Amino acid sequence: MSELDVVKYRVEDRIAWVYFSRPEKRNAMSPTLNRRMAEVLDELEFRDDVGVLVLGGEGTAWSAGMDLKEYFRETEAQGLKGVRKSQRESYGWFRRLRWFQKPTIAMVNGWCFGGGFGPLFACDLAITADDAKFGLSEINWGILPGGGVTKVVVDLLAMRDAMWLTLTGELIDGRKAAEWRLVNESVPLDRLEARVREVAQLLLTKNPVALKFAKDAIRRVGTMTYDEAEDYLVRMQEAANFHDKSDGRKEGIRQFIDEKSYKPGLGAYDL
Ligand code: ACO
Repeated sequence: MSELDVVKYRVEDRIAWVYFSRPEKRNAMSPTLNRRMAEVLDELEFRDDVGVLVLGGEGTAWSAGMDLKEYFRETEAQGLKGVRKSQRESYGWFRRLRWFQKPTIAMVNGWCFGGGFGPLFACDLAITADDAKFGLSEINWGILPGGGVTKVVVDLLAMRDAMWLTLTGELIDGRKAAEWRLVNESVPLDRLEARVREVAQLLLTKNPVALKFAKDAIRRVGTMTYDEAEDYLVRMQEAANFHDKSDGRKEGIRQFIDEKSYKPGLGAYDL
């Protein structure tokens, strides 16, 4: 098996299906996997035949978090230089994924632990299997949820739920994760891929420039004052107008007002 195989992907009908692929290690994120994931994101991000990226896991796990042997023990043995390098590599691809050019969907099929909350948050949408299990196991082996994970649960969850996961290390299943809004939806495992495909296909009907600017805006405005957000959004729409060589918004208005071929309240214009 080549080192490249720790991440697998295929592109089908404008959807890039990317998989953590260390099922025998429950898709724990090793430095090798982190480096490969960064390369795969690079390979896919600006491909014209990719409109949406889905991140799934092979086998019974989505990701069992950071690899306790290869990411922690072995890099710590190399001293601070090794630790900082492996942190840069993992945080680096999480960041790439957060600001990915195309919309992204986490397809959480099974275990999702600790550091796995990084890519979970980095994906714009998340759909899980009812029986998947989510947990912050850090407390169980004596550390706090680092590497941004505490920030992720504070941003995504109510304070009591964030505190519960963090202090107890107890698991919640996919249904509970949807109830807590850690994910958008939970469906039976045998429906998971089909449901993710439906959502991806829906995103593919939308203006791609608008999708990128809209998803970035959601992540950016949270820390801004109202006035800053208002100003930022005006400027971002103007930047989007510049980048959208199809002049999509004018076409969208034309198809509604002149052609009467669709209703924006009920679906997207014909791209
Ligand atoms: N790091 C390193 N190796 C791991 C990890 C991990 N995070 N998770 C699983 N593995 C390895 C196991 O050591 C085992 O290796 P081996 O076959 O060489 O002995 C193999 O994957 C299979 O694991 P099992 O424990 O046998 O699988 P099982 O399906 O019974 O349990 C479970 C799955 C619950 C995910 C369990 O493996 C586990 O608790 N893993 C650790 C989860 C965790 O705490 N992750 C770290 C979060 S904190 C952070 O990310 C910063």
